[in-house]
Amino acid sequence: MSKRLKVWVSRPLFADVLARLEQYVDIDAEAVERVHDAQELKQRLAAVDGAIIGLADRVDAATLAGNHRLKVISNLAVGYNNLDVEALTKAGVLACNTPEVLNETTADYAWALLLAAARRVGAAERWLRAGRWRGAMRFDDWLGVDLHGKTLGILGMGRIGQAIARRAGGFDMRVLYHNRSRLPELVEHGCAAHWVDKASLLRESDHLVLVLPYTAENHHIIGAAELASMKQGSVLVNIARGGLVDEAALAAALREGRLAAAGLDVFEDEPVVHPDLLALEQVVLSPHLGSASADTRRNMAGLAVDNVLAGLGVGPGAGRPPAPINPRVLAMRERGGKA
Ligand code: DGY
Repeated sequence: MSKRLKVWVSRPLFADVLARLEQYVDIDAEAVERVHDAQELKQRLAAVDGAIIGLADRVDAATLAGNHRLKVISNLAVGYNNLDVEALTKAGVLACNTPEVLNETTADYAWALLLAAARRVGAAERWLRAGRWRGAMRFDDWLGVDLHGKTLGILGMGRIGQAIARRAGGFDMRVLYHNRSRLPELVEHGCAAHWVDKASLLRESDHLVLVLPYTAENHHIIGAAELASMKQGSVLVNIARGGLVDEAALAAALREGRLAAAGLDVFEDEPVVHPDLLALEQVVLSPHLGSASADTRRNMAGLAVDNVLAGLGVGPGAGRPPAPINPRVLAMRERGGKA
């Protein structure tokens, strides 16, 4: 009988990355992308020592009830609103994520959405593909809004927000940000960004990008009142989590012309997109692609493997996972106690 530890991988991953995992543990890797319901997730997690899971896998106290085997959950994402960290910590399960490796790629994508939304790339492409570019086009057709020389607002100024800010210099933009805690002066200086309160950020930004983590406190942080206080004709981009925005209120603000456009990579009820947003040409929609470059997704998968192996105490980094979310569990393990 195998004495090796066992890891479940809930999503298909790169074969060579899985092969590295398999050098140290037995693996049960899903070959097809699908959503696992709560019951299946609970059963899967009860049968393994560690798991690499995706954002669609929601782990809470009920999922962990009666599970005495699981030691590590390695989330294939930097955001971990799918995990109840308190419940994991109570159960002595180490949780890890994939920070840093996706900062630049995700920042690139924020700009892709911002440019596409502001310059109406999505709608214009649909129009062209539909064969509607016949004869002369009016001089005042397809007018978008400029980015250069305007004010970029960033709500949430972690590493990704900072990477977005650094890119704004190339567009000669003024950068404002709001974060619960103000960045050290040196960091602010490095990304040429100025802290303002949230109300000023909404009022003064021509383009507003959301990059903050989703928590109960941040639910619908951009709702009808916030949208009403935004600059006339501004553009909103959300690359963080759908639940930050009241989507019905956003659709209304776009319909009324208060906002010129929006670029959305995330949705409150993914993969379902609010029908009011689908109906609007001035919204650029994408299926949660922020970190989806070939290099970055490989790096995320590699980091998730490092996390699970180290958390299980095997492999070159045994006992020292690179990205623990609840390091208290490690400290407790060292002391030989419960978290
Ligand atoms: C993350 O890492 O949190 C992204 O949203 C998933 O790619």
